[in-house]
Amino acid sequence: MTYRIVTIDGPAGAGKTTVSKQLAATLGCVYVDTGALYRGVAYEIDRQKIDWQDEAELNRFLESLDLGFKMTGQDLALVSSGKDITSFIRTPEITMLASATSALPAVRQALLGIQKHIAATRDAVFEGRDMGTAVFPDAPFKFFLFADLGVRARRRHDELGTNDAELEKVQAQMAKRDKDDESRKTNPLKPAPDAVSIDSTHMTVDQVVTKMQDIIEKA
Ligand code: DC
Repeated sequence: MTYRIVTIDGPAGAGKTTVSKQLAATLGCVYVDTGALYRGVAYEIDRQKIDWQDEAELNRFLESLDLGFKMTGQDLALVSSGKDITSFIRTPEITMLASATSALPAVRQALLGIQKHIAATRDAVFEGRDMGTAVFPDAPFKFFLFADLGVRARRRHDELGTNDAELEKVQAQMAKRDKDDESRKTNPLKPAPDAVSIDSTHMTVDQVVTKMQDIIEKA
């Protein structure tokens, strides 16, 4: 049996998470935040003080990694070796480390099986950077969500509740992350050739979700 897989890729702050969650709820399927997996790897690298630039050490670490999702109500919690680490993976340090370590082919390879396993067992909306290009190239519904950098930084800034002086810093970090994610050699952030691109700069979450839903339901 093939399940209905929807992929939503795009840069940080384009509204992917809110849109993906809302779309999954509308379609009655699970929402999978693949960025959480990369953050989970970064969290464990940091916690276990792994020298990730040492290939042998990184490989040993990845072999011992026991990362996965657990259903909690409608949400998926990120679990590492049986421990729920969902609340530890959103710090600025882990965010930047996740961007750096997600460029490593061995890290991407290690997370592939988890993502494919979910898609083989249920309908899902997958949010990430390479869902439509690399992980699920055959997905029937692919979206690429983007927005102007200034608007994305403002949204993230509002979410974090930081003061105005921090806005510039948020924007600079976002620009760096975009550049790193787009320029890495393995599975860089880019739209799949058959993805529908949506510019959310002047759109509300509801408008974006309705547009996606229309496309899915008309198919
Ligand atoms: O979506 P996010 O900000 O939580 O993702 C954290 C980092 O993980 C991001 O900088 C890039 C990386 N990532 C990735 O390389 N591929 C994915 N499918 C999802 C995230």
